[in-house]
Amino acid sequence: MGKPKALVTRPLFPAARAILDECFDAEYWTSAERIPRAELLRRVADKEALVCLLTEKVDEELLAAAPKLRIVATMSVGYDNIDVPACTRRKIVATHTPGVLDETTADFAWTLLMAIARRLVEGDAWVRAGTWPGWDLDQLLGGDVWGKTLGIIGFGRIGRGVARRAQGFRMRVLYHDAVRAPRDVESEFHAEFAERDRLLAESDFVSLHVPLLPETRHLIGKEALEKMKRTAYLINTSRGPVVDEAALARALEEKKIAGAALDVYEREPEVHPALLARKDVILAPHIASATVETRTNMAVMAARNAAALFQGRRPPNALNADALGL
Ligand SMILES: NC(=O)c1ccc[n+]([C@@H]2O[C@H](COP(=O)([O-])OP(=O)(O)OC[C@H]3O[C@@H](n4cnc5c(N)ncnc54)[C@H](O)[C@@H]3O)[C@@H](O)[C@H]2O)c1
Repeated sequence: MGKPKALVTRPLFPAARAILDECFDAEYWTSAERIPRAELLRRVADKEALVCLLTEKVDEELLAAAPKLRIVATMSVGYDNIDVPACTRRKIVATHTPGVLDETTADFAWTLLMAIARRLVEGDAWVRAGTWPGWDLDQLLGGDVWGKTLGIIGFGRIGRGVARRAQGFRMRVLYHDAVRAPRDVESEFHAEFAERDRLLAESDFVSLHVPLLPETRHLIGKEALEKMKRTAYLINTSRGPVVDEAALARALEEKKIAGAALDVYEREPEVHPALLARKDVILAPHIASATVETRTNMAVMAARNAAALFQGRRPPNALNADALGL
């Protein structure tokens, strides 16, 4: 009997390809540009496994086009690109990559936090432009980081990684989450639970780490931004639609907050035009998990998830294992 067929929407890394090639007759999308939707639907039609990225939407239309599909393995921890209930209805396993990118993503939230507070990107542009006249007393004055209050919304794997790093900066840490953490976790991370509005009102930095869900879409909109301090900064490394970009642009224009540093956008790769021209915003191209080590680990994890099912094992990171009785 031949190997099961898999579609892999990027060439991935050699370590992940080795796992996939051993288990599957794998077809890789190798063009530099992202796989076009029509091509994805056409190529997945005869496949039993799909290893995809967060940019591929796995919805009813795709599942209907892939009658043999048994597993969808996304190379991301966020799985808002996958209609998991639709997968479950069709007895298709959906998997993601939790845990391997926590520290790397937390590092990057801090990269953005430090860079926006200390105006690093503005400074870099000034020096490169050749117009910087040399040191002076009041150039590019930013906000202090050390000793300030950090508000973390979404106190899961990544949110806790961000909290841990705050200790070195002697910060006070507030967190808000749909589920309050156990007391021992709160004391381990020196983090205090706060209702969302108190967190917004008291924090000097608000960092977002919730998944994209119907309840978290536009979690930060006009009303939330108005509750923040005028001197506060917003950092978003979660998902773009968690922030209402138009409301953010207005809040910055009206000086309701001091600045924002974003890694993710509502309609990637588009960015709200009003944000593009602003100096009080840092715009990163969705790279919070983008290190050689972490992206390799994510690809290997996705490959192992896909392979496990066909090797008779429960995929380690299945989102619907219980619903499917695995
Ligand atoms: N920018 C990037 O490249 C990048 C990288 C990794 C993860 N992410 C995003 O970060 C998200 C978080 O990842 P994680 O591994 O920490 O997930 P996680 O599941 O460990 O943590 C998410 C936390 O959010 C909480 N939450 C859910 N709904 C909430 C709500 N309505 N209000 C308040 N809290 C709520 C959950 O209880 C949980 O504690 C992912 O879903 C993904 O979208 C982005």
